[in-house]
Amino acid sequence: FLHFFCYIILKIMVLKLYTAPPNNLKNVKELRHKSQQVTLLMYKLRLSTDGCLSNPCFPGTKCISFPDGSFKCGKCPLGYRGNGVICKDIDECKEVPDACYIHNGIHRCENTQPGYNCLPCPARFSGPQPFGKGVEQATAKKQVCAPRNPCQDGSHNCNKNANCIYLGVYSDSMFRCECKPGYAGNGRICGEDSDLDGWPNSDLLCVQNATYHCKKDNCPNLPNSGQEDNDKDGLGDECDHDDDNDGIPDDRDNCPMEYNPAQYDADRDDVGDRCDNCVFEPNTDQTDTDDNGEGDACAVDIDGDGILNENDNCPYVYNVDNRDTDGDGVGDHCDNCPLEHNPDQADSDSDLVGDKCDNNQDIDEDGHQNNLDNCPYIPNANQADHDKDGKGDACDHDDDNDNIPDDKDNCRLAYNPDQIDSNGDGRGDVCQFDFDQDKVLDIYDACPENFDISETDFRKFQMVPLDPKGTSQIDPNWLVRNQGKELVQTVNCDPGIAVGYDEFSAVDFSGTFYVNTDRDDDYAGFVFGYQSSSRFYTVMWKQITQTYWSTTPTRAQGYSGLSIKVVNSTTGPGEHLRNALWHTGDTPGQVRTLWHDPKNIGWKDFTSYRWHLTHRPKTGLIRVVMYEGKKIMADSGNIYDKTYAGGRLGLYVFSQEMVYFSDLKYECKGEQISDV
Ligand SMILES: *[C@@H]1O[C@H](CO)[C@@H](O)[C@H](O)[C@H]1NC(C)=O
Ligand SMILES: *[C@@H]1O[C@H](CO)[C@@H](O)[C@H](O)[C@H]1NC(C)=O
Repeated sequence: FLHFFCYIILKIMVLKLYTAPPNNLKNVKELRHKSQQVTLLMYKLRLSTDGCLSNPCFPGTKCISFPDGSFKCGKCPLGYRGNGVICKDIDECKEVPDACYIHNGIHRCENTQPGYNCLPCPARFSGPQPFGKGVEQATAKKQVCAPRNPCQDGSHNCNKNANCIYLGVYSDSMFRCECKPGYAGNGRICGEDSDLDGWPNSDLLCVQNATYHCKKDNCPNLPNSGQEDNDKDGLGDECDHDDDNDGIPDDRDNCPMEYNPAQYDADRDDVGDRCDNCVFEPNTDQTDTDDNGEGDACAVDIDGDGILNENDNCPYVYNVDNRDTDGDGVGDHCDNCPLEHNPDQADSDSDLVGDKCDNNQDIDEDGHQNNLDNCPYIPNANQADHDKDGKGDACDHDDDNDNIPDDKDNCRLAYNPDQIDSNGDGRGDVCQFDFDQDKVLDIYDACPENFDISETDFRKFQMVPLDPKGTSQIDPNWLVRNQGKELVQTVNCDPGIAVGYDEFSAVDFSGTFYVNTDRDDDYAGFVFGYQSSSRFYTVMWKQITQTYWSTTPTRAQGYSGLSIKVVNSTTGPGEHLRNALWHTGDTPGQVRTLWHDPKNIGWKDFTSYRWHLTHRPKTGLIRVVMYEGKKIMADSGNIYDKTYAGGRLGLYVFSQEMVYFSDLKYECKGEQISDV
């Protein structure tokens, strides 16, 4: 204002000077001089009246001055907010809370003056790393970080004959290479594997370990996933006719694995003294419950719990407290009805629940009757309960009792109230590579989210006869090899299943199937979702089409080719179920066929096949693919059936001898594991 005022005064003075008449020369000179002075003054004044001269606006902000000496500041620079004179940095991170990726509850955003920038995506995630200035930019280009999937983005180095298996975002390597059916190796290098037992036909240039096999198969044309070679002569036992080099061929040797040319057999149980775990007590089955080298038949303490058999109320199950709540003489640890008096332990439907307390009322169809189900209303066939609080994980909001709710817990199955996550990847340190804390790294764990299951193991199984009353054939005889990853059924028998004890909800199950004889042409296969001998799914395969020899109670026509059936039997094991199982099609009250291979391709003798089952009870998805060598022989495609929400896995034979089930492999498919 002062400037403006002076300006006006001066203007008036100048006007006066010019308009005043020149009195004399002196006056003129004086006038000229004065005029020059005034012009100079005016010039000086004019400069000092430019409102922007003193940089009144915020740095980087435009300043506009007006002739009257006033000024105006333009907009604050990008990333600032204010009136132009005073501009304050905008905290984009605060104002756009999702400008950058939020991981583990932390906004990975850095505010700068001006602007912001996002931190790089967390480990094992990929995405852009945007930066910018101001709310508009922060809103327009939000950071998106997606879990990296080397199997999809092509950044893996699996062999062309291998599948890339995505292991989820928290695993170190994120993927694993697995040679396709028909090949074996470490996944980077894969060689042909004719018998589909996981061992290549010839040596491969890779270093092998427990998971991957690079060494040449010691019996390339017969599945022997354990590569057993008793006499270490380089020829696997499976194709060595004299495994112990004692000159007695295996099929006549009473100790095929022990050098015993004399073949002494004191108790005449066909097991030579040299290898008999009870030399003076006939025990052809050689059962040895506690694996101490002494057979049950001659052991005074069968289960090795320190309590002699005659005083042990669970002679076959390790129990030291000998508690027997219902006083029926059977200890709680092995009592199939611990609260009901049932000394006979009858369990006619083979579901491990005694008839006395078995009501089979199971609202969620997960194989555990309501009063014994740790989540009666939510299907959880595996009954996993990691904090052992009696409430299954499936219906427990805090599976590890660390007071951090599961959906916020960075280690759902490991007690870690501190939630320390030093690499900031969203998974806590204590469970980084071993989610279920079973001491088996997730990448090698068959069930990374289940403490109780870490590898495929059919060493222990329940024998379930499906025609116990029928006497047409004998019961199956199963040999266990390769730590329970290979089973061989040797006799021509009535239908029966060997059911493992592990329980599954979503599962993948694969194995190699081989019939080592040209006698017979009947059924073999496997079961899944086993809940009782009346309730299970089965995949069965017959060599040739045939009508069952006994046409009562129902006529049973079995077609060659692979079938997927759901068994829901009103009678349970017996001739009804037997004939219904044989029959391709539906038998009311017994069996429903979900799928039958329209090509009716039967299995061939002396041929390796590999099956792959996918079962996802939540959606009811079932799919079976059968490979012959490298080629797909049959593929059911996606089939949906929700009859059973999971159960146990097993192997199935009906009237077929010398069936090999080799290189067996099951894997849980939980929520946090890729499900493809
Ligand atoms: C086995 O070898 C593979 C590939 O060479 C490797 O990634 C894996 O960690 C090894 N596994 C074990 C148990 O050492
Ligand atoms: C099994 O069969 C019984 C009797 O036919 C029927 O009531 C029941 O609903 C069936 N169960 C399932 C899971 O389909």
